[in-house]
Amino acid sequence: MKTFEPKSIIEPFRVRSVEPIRFSTLEQREAALAKAGYNPFLLRAEDVLIDLLTDSGTGAMSSRQWAGMIASDESYAGASSFYRFEHAVQDVTGFKHVIPAHQGRAAEHILFATIANPGQVIPSNAHFDTTRAHIERQGAQARDLPCVQSQDPKLNYPFKGDMDVDALRTTIEEVGAARIPAVMMTVTNNACGGQPVSMANVRAASALARAHGIPFIIDACRFAENAWFIKTREPGYEGAKPIEIARQMFSLADGCTMSAKKDGMSNIGGFLALNDDQLAARCRNLEILTEGFPTYGGMAGYDLEAVAQGLYEALDEGYLRYRIRSIEYLGEKLLAAAIPIVQPTGGHAVYIDARALLPHISPLQYPAWSLNNGLYLVGGVRGVEIGSVMFGRQPDGSERIAALDLVRLAFPRRVYTQSHVDYLAEVILEVAAQKADLPGYRIVEEAPVLRHFTGTTRPAGSASAPNEARSRASTPSPRRMRKASSTSNVTLRWCSSLRRQFPPSRRKTVIARSKRYGSGREKRVTITQSSWTLACT
Ligand SMILES: Cc1ncc(COP(=O)(O)O)c(C=O)c1O
Repeated sequence: MKTFEPKSIIEPFRVRSVEPIRFSTLEQREAALAKAGYNPFLLRAEDVLIDLLTDSGTGAMSSRQWAGMIASDESYAGASSFYRFEHAVQDVTGFKHVIPAHQGRAAEHILFATIANPGQVIPSNAHFDTTRAHIERQGAQARDLPCVQSQDPKLNYPFKGDMDVDALRTTIEEVGAARIPAVMMTVTNNACGGQPVSMANVRAASALARAHGIPFIIDACRFAENAWFIKTREPGYEGAKPIEIARQMFSLADGCTMSAKKDGMSNIGGFLALNDDQLAARCRNLEILTEGFPTYGGMAGYDLEAVAQGLYEALDEGYLRYRIRSIEYLGEKLLAAAIPIVQPTGGHAVYIDARALLPHISPLQYPAWSLNNGLYLVGGVRGVEIGSVMFGRQPDGSERIAALDLVRLAFPRRVYTQSHVDYLAEVILEVAAQKADLPGYRIVEEAPVLRHFTGTTRPAGSASAPNEARSRASTPSPRRMRKASSTSNVTLRWCSSLRRQFPPSRRKTVIARSKRYGSGREKRVTITQSSWTLACT
């Protein structure tokens, strides 16, 4: 007998506990999305069929994790659960001081509130949004130095998460090492498509930072997935175990921030780990103020247990193979249907290039936001916009188009199966077939930072609600819209899609407007379209 390479993706686990997911109608989803201010973050999770908003804290835990949680020690100080957690973090990362935090951004808060000051610069291959926000909150600048290959979504390059080390050198020369409290490296690089960073790049960036006496800190959220990519893509690591690769990577750094909600395989938790005794002492002082006593730091004893076990499970080869292959499999299906995605597929998500898929929506009408809403309307799928809504607002209040407008479909760990992925591919293909019906969006309300979490939006060109704050993004002038409508060929399909999208109270507006142009059905449709959006032209 010969061994064979199966084509099916076998989940390396059995399911012993199930959670129903709810099917809904298009009308129900339209109502839910409108109620959520056209922001999928504001949807109720029960209204979502396949939830790919994030891979953060959404994974399924193993029986071993649950066993550890039941046996946890909930003592306020010195709990044995903390020491198991500390041991696991030290074993995997090699860092001396382990400072627990309730999630990644809490670790970022402690670190940057301790080390960052106004006028300083913190370079990175690319900062995640919460990292950036914490740096900017201290008055420092978060500077992204992604490698040039990351800017071309179609380029098939194995380590698109790398930092541009020459740009780091220039930054250090220009800013001066004294004004750089740390160099960060995010593995994998979430803001650049979940792309991995090579060991060679970590080594080069670390050597440069250390040569200037600058601490080198890893944002380690997806360290295990990064280790898998190094094993499978970087020559010389084929035979190494993921845990050996991870240890080598951490040995090049002076500390890390970690959201254990990712490769900690936990629903909550995180940590800051450091080698420097004095810095660790200062961070612990702040931790007591904001997170709690240093042996629990915002986590319950059972959370500490879940992470202590989860860090090892994330490094299991069978698990990593299944996880990375599931994402690659979806990527293959989309590429076969000519859907533009960031290539090659990364660690935790497939990123659809919405700007390329929807060229009829201008970047400041947020094509990725629109595509994400379309996925929800058509198939009950929730992803997240990683583009100009997330990154466009500048600290000085101006609006800048993000480098890319992507929809990220992030996979919770050990939750969905191959048939879920097949369904997902069907939904994406269907939305692509209906893409002419997708409108651009404008922002109605936004918070000063991280606006994508709580902001509300509307299809661009829709009538303003009373007291609606005007979006500072450029919206097309009514004149331009009329011009567009007069040249466009409007379909009845578009009309019914609009009617479905807007509740009866709003339809009046549409019909009232149409009266100015006559009562015929077709004319009414034309005016409706011109009033609501440029998207279908
Ligand atoms: C790269 C990266 N850093 C930091 C964070 C923040 O972690 P948390 O959500 O646990 O606060 C995230 C979360 O998605 C992330 O992807």
